[in-house]
Amino acid sequence: MYLEKLYLINYRNYLSLENNFSAQVNILIGNNAQGKTNLIEAIYYLSIGKSYRPARDLQLTNWNADYFCVSGLVRNNFGKTKLDITYRNNEQTNKEIKVNSSKINKNAELLGNLTTILFAPEDLNIIKGPPSERRNLLDNDIAQVSPAYNTKLQQYNRILNQRNYLLRKIAMNQTADKQLDVWNQQFLEMSNDIVEKRLEVLEKLTPLTRLMQRRLTEGQENLEIRYILNKDKPIKRNSEIKNLLLAEMNKYRGEEFKRGITLCGPHRDDLLISLNGNDLKYYGSQGQHRTTVLAVKLAELEFFKAESGEYPVLLLDDVLSELDQQRRDQLLNTIQEKNIQCFITTTEDNSFLWHKNTTLQKFHISEGKLVTQ
Ligand SMILES: Nc1ncnc2c1ncn2[C@@H]1O[C@H](COP(=O)(O)OP(=O)(O)OP(=O)(O)O)[C@@H](O)[C@H]1O
Ligand SMILES: [Mg+2]
Repeated sequence: MYLEKLYLINYRNYLSLENNFSAQVNILIGNNAQGKTNLIEAIYYLSIGKSYRPARDLQLTNWNADYFCVSGLVRNNFGKTKLDITYRNNEQTNKEIKVNSSKINKNAELLGNLTTILFAPEDLNIIKGPPSERRNLLDNDIAQVSPAYNTKLQQYNRILNQRNYLLRKIAMNQTADKQLDVWNQQFLEMSNDIVEKRLEVLEKLTPLTRLMQRRLTEGQENLEIRYILNKDKPIKRNSEIKNLLLAEMNKYRGEEFKRGITLCGPHRDDLLISLNGNDLKYYGSQGQHRTTVLAVKLAELEFFKAESGEYPVLLLDDVLSELDQQRRDQLLNTIQEKNIQCFITTTEDNSFLWHKNTTLQKFHISEGKLVTQ
């Protein structure tokens, strides 16, 4: 699929933009603070209805305005789709999302119309950040291909909250511990479903990521991703998940009563990512972190293609810094081979890095305006 046209009104420093893009490589060239990241963010916003940066809709609105619009025309194997999102800062229902001019009620209904894979500097947190970053990576991928998973996660969080509430009361001797049994069965079933789904998707993503890592490093780096149950138990698919979860629940029962909080379950799981046998988080170099995140993103491209039949749009913000020539060449080669739509930001025109036969469209960005070259 590809984004044929983008319209912006009052989105960050873009007061008004109407632009056609190439179905292949779009290079966004501009000095610092001109609007390169804002444009990438706007495309991402159109795909899932929120930003990936810690910004609320109000902060995405141009400083001198009280509303913004992001619209686009997406083409895929089945035809074209028009997406429109409008945010107003002065009404009760302040966000309106339309797919082909029909209003939708939930963000989830937007998913799948424009699927994007984003690499942003923040994504290095997948390696360096807390376990929640790695769980989110997996959960977001799953939610995009099976929307029911999102509902399941929400249900799990509700049960988790109820369980925590009861545990707090038990810890303060305000209720009997028998009360918890009602929730435990549901908690176990939910946990089991979530962990099984995560393992299923991880089993697809891991070989693809390994392949991409080997490709980017010309065979020098072997990547391993393992699912870690409750912070210390590596598990594989087809293990006796439910029994393992039950064993964890029993193991922590006493401590949960004392501390008044749930100490096991998929909200405490993690992924262990290692390179040539070493935990990347503690031993990896900056370039290795970056390469691995890219390998994950390129693997996601293949994963979505396998699930939906179409490649998503690739958004690469500030990707080339810290990559040596070999890794950079391998990255660009991989993109060029796939014939996908890609947006890549840069502060200097580096179009010479691409193969001569690649269709490139260059845009210069200055103070929230785009000039095609
Ligand atoms: N809500 C907003 N309204 C108006 N302008 C905004 C808003 N939010 C951010 N900006 C402006 O957008 C500019 C940053 O744009 P952006 O992050 O896209 O820069 P960039 O081209 O990616 O730069 P760099 O090369 O440094 O990453 C900021 O300097 C800020 O002035
Ligand atoms: Mg930027």
